[in-house]
Amino acid sequence: MNQNQQSDWVARSLKSVWHPCTQMQHHETVPLIPVSHGRGAWLFDTEGKRYLDGISSWWVNLFGHANPRINAALKDQLDKLEHAMLAGFTHEPVVRLSEKLSALTGGVLGHCFYASDGASATEISLKMSFHFWRNSGQAEKQEFICLKGSYHGETIGALAVTDVALFRDAYGPLLNKAHVVASPDARQALAGESAADVARHAAADLERCMQERAGKIAAVIIEPLVQCATGMAMHDPEYLRLVRSLCDQYQVHMIADEIAVGCGRTGTFFACESAGIWPDFVCLSKGISGGYLPLSLVMTRDEIYQGFYHSDVRRGFLHSHSYTGNPLACRAALATLEIFENDDVLVQNRLKAASISKALQPLAQHEKVENFRQQGMIWAFDAVVDDAAASSFSRRFFSTALEHELLLRPIGKTVYLMPPYILNDKEIADLGNTTLKVFNQVLGELANGVSA
Ligand SMILES: Cc1ncc(COP(=O)(O)O)c(C=O)c1O
Repeated sequence: MNQNQQSDWVARSLKSVWHPCTQMQHHETVPLIPVSHGRGAWLFDTEGKRYLDGISSWWVNLFGHANPRINAALKDQLDKLEHAMLAGFTHEPVVRLSEKLSALTGGVLGHCFYASDGASATEISLKMSFHFWRNSGQAEKQEFICLKGSYHGETIGALAVTDVALFRDAYGPLLNKAHVVASPDARQALAGESAADVARHAAADLERCMQERAGKIAAVIIEPLVQCATGMAMHDPEYLRLVRSLCDQYQVHMIADEIAVGCGRTGTFFACESAGIWPDFVCLSKGISGGYLPLSLVMTRDEIYQGFYHSDVRRGFLHSHSYTGNPLACRAALATLEIFENDDVLVQNRLKAASISKALQPLAQHEKVENFRQQGMIWAFDAVVDDAAASSFSRRFFSTALEHELLLRPIGKTVYLMPPYILNDKEIADLGNTTLKVFNQVLGELANGVSA
């Protein structure tokens, strides 16, 4: 494909496609990359230029692009059943997937309810919680608590429990009010304080809110261990234990949004496992299909499921999406879980994470880096740049990284890496070296006032 054809796809896309999470005018200066194919950790554009996918294509891809095992499973499934409605029907992939996921929680959670995108899973968990309390004669429990800096998706219900001003402010009048309580972000630790101390302060704020609104709160929704979209804010697992016990004490549901942090991303298959607790609802999406197809789901406890089980149809959970439990998406998820089992992925990831941390050491020690942090297969650090430069840092870093065959997309001043789990030693070394090179180049340009 020649240069003309490549720019043709870009021009046609800019004319016909409204790209997500994008001020379209920025594409007057920021490149739009027409991807032709992917292989392993790499994406290739239509000119044959390649990019190391350092953010797993928006945190979804676990085992590489065009993974032979997932491809084979999908090809097999294609010849059997591409889709069937899940109301009144069922099929092998959805049953096997639901059983496997429940087994991964030791049977504590189950009754998988499916949708396609992460935001839909958030909506489902909020609706289920609210409806459960109503079915249980506690209809006054209608309010939700979320954390400062939380992100749970961008549909109206999910946005109501999202605290990222950039995403929610324009729609404020449409959103139900949620209670926003302190984040346990470990970066807030004062001198002499540990991450667990910050977790305890944040839990005290949560308790204050639960006390104040006693009997009115349906659920608290959290992103366990890492609040990703706000800029990879990490916290101590102690917070999860404290939330669990406050929820038990005040009869409030605990919703764990593991859409970004589940599927091994933080070290254990479910992030909550690191704290030795189970929530009342867990939301999964993104990595569950290996990054192949839109699939999300909510798992809950048997007591909650039983609260809907009744002869009265209105007590049932009458929520649906056309593609609920899509067989292809479920089959991709089964193939993904098989890779976890067969390749002992969680153990291998620990070794890989140690190598990646080593490759990033020069950045961890860089004088213009603060808050270098890591949790499982997520790394993040904050650039020390002044506020005037901060606004262009992210876009400039993104563009410069692309020039160096690397896909990274900082959030504000926070550079983060969330690579697929299949990087080899050479790719790990490249990731470390290129990130450092790009960081130095961008800081140099900002210092010299080079325009973006
Ligand atoms: C924690 C969390 N919840 C929900 C979502 C929304 O998922 P989706 O974009 O698939 O709707 C995201 C997406 O980044 C997320 O990180």
